[in-house]
Amino acid sequence: MNIFVVDDYEQLSKKAAQVVAQRVQAKKNLVLGLATGSTPVGMYQELVRMHENGLVNFGLVTTFNLDEYVGLGSDDSQSYYRFMQANFFSHVKVEKSFIPNGLATDFVGECSSYEAEIKSNGGIDVQILGVGRDGHIGFNEPGASRSSRTCVVSLDAITMQDNSRFFADISRVPNRAITMGIGTILDARECILLANGAHKAEIILRALKGPVTELVPASFLQTHENLTVILDKDAAKKIISCQICVRV
Ligand code: GLP
Repeated sequence: MNIFVVDDYEQLSKKAAQVVAQRVQAKKNLVLGLATGSTPVGMYQELVRMHENGLVNFGLVTTFNLDEYVGLGSDDSQSYYRFMQANFFSHVKVEKSFIPNGLATDFVGECSSYEAEIKSNGGIDVQILGVGRDGHIGFNEPGASRSSRTCVVSLDAITMQDNSRFFADISRVPNRAITMGIGTILDARECILLANGAHKAEIILRALKGPVTELVPASFLQTHENLTVILDKDAAKKIISCQICVRV
């Protein structure tokens, strides 16, 4: 595990974008797993800036998003489909992009075809991740199994509460989502976990330094052989004394 601790959100966004750009430069047809939420927004902005300045070319890159709310489609402003359009795909051309379909009529079929699509594209090279305050990755809530694959899940109250800031009120927050499983995520050849802010310090401590347990899905990342963690100093404040930290 490599942990980079940077001063603030701007530095985190730049560092994450630099790492992604390096991976694309090293493999032009990279299969890139993407995340939503507030955390990666600055990374997307930086990647768009780099693309506009000719510093990185996503033209041959294939992307797979982690998750989508059940019931929200491309016409809903809070769907992750729309998030990705607004933050990345309307600015940067990629070869192919996949996002789970929140309006699927057959969710079992949707989940298995998402897994099959990942496989037929050669598997995910680099997976970007944020983390929920309850330790979720994608939408794998506490209790999710290490071997889970893409599936439909129920959202925890804490997740619905946290994500309600994007909706008119909490009653509008979908209570189910379709998400890559933990097994799907851990199959990526590299995982990059991002977190910023003091509100993430406790879960970052539990995820990275606590026991590996289904109670903290992000803790399974400790078992990944190629994990990069990029934190701002607020999110890192409870692990700051660890031996493996690298300041940049
Ligand atoms: C959402 C997403 C996750 C994301 C997490 C953290 O629920 N499904 O993929 O990592 O919440 O969100 P934020 O970055 O806004 O803190």
